[in-house]
Amino acid sequence: MEERNIVYLTRKIDFCASHRYIIEELSQEENFRLFGKCSYRHGHGHNYSLEVTVKGVTDPKTGMVINLSELDRILRSKVVDVLDHKFINVDVPCFEKKIPTTENIAIFIWDSIVGTLHGCQLHRVRLFEDPYLFAEYYGE
Ligand code: NI
Repeated sequence: MEERNIVYLTRKIDFCASHRYIIEELSQEENFRLFGKCSYRHGHGHNYSLEVTVKGVTDPKTGMVINLSELDRILRSKVVDVLDHKFINVDVPCFEKKIPTTENIAIFIWDSIVGTLHGCQLHRVRLFEDPYLFAEYYGE
């Protein structure tokens, strides 16, 4: 049966970026109450780890769900080139008005790559802000 060949393949990549949590309409004190040190004016950095999981049927010829060099090319152009060593609030237009939480960045990454995959489905984006915090997004 064809369903027996459905496999989940995960690629892990790292990038570094900085961000700041701020709601412009609020005072500095109110922002500090809401976001603590994450509201400091000049932002702070994280070493992010990203796991992207795709789901698909293995190609009978290659044994692959997706060609890995194709997946790597997508992750480089849509994630690393866009986010690595950037100040997300300023350098990524999507976050001019949106707070770049781990949750929102995970959704942003999903939206950036979901339309680029062919022959397999995006299943999960899991973004670690550090070893102790991660957000998962399944496109729902
Ligand atoms: Ni942070």
